[in-house]
Amino acid sequence: MALIAPSLLAADFLQLQNECDMLNESEADWFHLDIMDGRFVPNISYGPMLVNFFRKTTTKTCDVHLMIEEPERYTQAFKDAGADILTVHYEACIHLHRNIQQIKSLGMKAGVALNPHTPVELLKDVLQDIDIVLLMSVNPGFGGQSFIPHTINKIKRMREMIDEQLLNVSIEVDGGVTVDNAKHIIDAGADILVAGSTVFKAKDPIATIAALKAI
Ligand code: DX5
Ligand code: ZN
Repeated sequence: MALIAPSLLAADFLQLQNECDMLNESEADWFHLDIMDGRFVPNISYGPMLVNFFRKTTTKTCDVHLMIEEPERYTQAFKDAGADILTVHYEACIHLHRNIQQIKSLGMKAGVALNPHTPVELLKDVLQDIDIVLLMSVNPGFGGQSFIPHTINKIKRMREMIDEQLLNVSIEVDGGVTVDNAKHIIDAGADILVAGSTVFKAKDPIATIAALKAI
């Protein structure tokens, strides 16, 4: 059974308390929080201040996905805001190994995200140091895009690499996840599904989360 991590990017920000209450009542496992800087990605979302408000509404895991340049400048701020997991992009880190150690030294779990064009093989020499690999199945920056089919091959290859080395690294898939394609993604080897629009634009978000969870 996969973990379900609804992305609050698709929530109604005028109704955030209600949206958080809904997630807290639901079978959702994590809050997925998307941070965008308008540099690494063409969109700007929100920062540590809002993460801290989310932290106060929930006891669920706060999974913070940094789509920002120089993420090392903000690691402490997101720790202070209450992040449990901090994921940085491979493409944004010149000193990825150092960034991973920084995240772990502050007591958070460390994730590394890959854009759709970045081969999973590039993680070979840090795989033993991280908790999560986040495979982007859309180009990062916006919710509501369609799943890129080639991601399935990347999930399978990543699973093989993790299993070959007997590592305890989870695979998170982010972007374009729907109730219809979730089984295909899980069968390929995903452990965690991020779902933004699928959950928050649904008529019944709680039932939709339950449907994802039941796959
Ligand atoms: C995209 C973000 C995703 C996004 C997913 O850059 O990283 O987490 O919110 O949204 P959906 O599920 O609508 O594709
Ligand atoms: Zn994300």
